[in-house]
Amino acid sequence: MSAEDLMINRRTAVAGAGVAVAAVAFAAACSSDSYTESDATTSAGASPAPAGQAGNIVGKTSDVPVGSGAILGDVVVTQPTSGTFLAFSPVCTHKGCNCDAVTGATINCPCHGSKFNLDGSVAVGPATQPLAAKAVTVDGDSIIVT
Ligand code: FES
Repeated sequence: MSAEDLMINRRTAVAGAGVAVAAVAFAAACSSDSYTESDATTSAGASPAPAGQAGNIVGKTSDVPVGSGAILGDVVVTQPTSGTFLAFSPVCTHKGCNCDAVTGATINCPCHGSKFNLDGSVAVGPATQPLAAKAVTVDGDSIIVT
């Protein structure tokens, strides 16, 4: 690669960065409703909670088996006992992979074998810290996570 090629690449990169900045500015200018950080992390398929309630509906209570749990979009929801729902970030506290399954009473990380109990605590390492808890409420049969 010649010095001229590098110059062109640098110009292209600078132009590209300018487009990216303009796109961000445009997106910010076009956003008419309130935007929160949590909006960026909601899962596909999650829908806003009923008026007056914060959070998103991530699924139905029937999606989460008693004594186990389910991955609902980007949230892990468990139901340790009937009618008690808990929610967690699926991000494994070991190295940051996403837990991808709940089998029986454990939330499982595929990367290095960590398993978490239904209350988010570590069942099997190498993770040493619990999953990050999220606030969860139930409205009718809807599970709402904030
Ligand atoms: S990232 Fe989950 S066990 Fe390592």
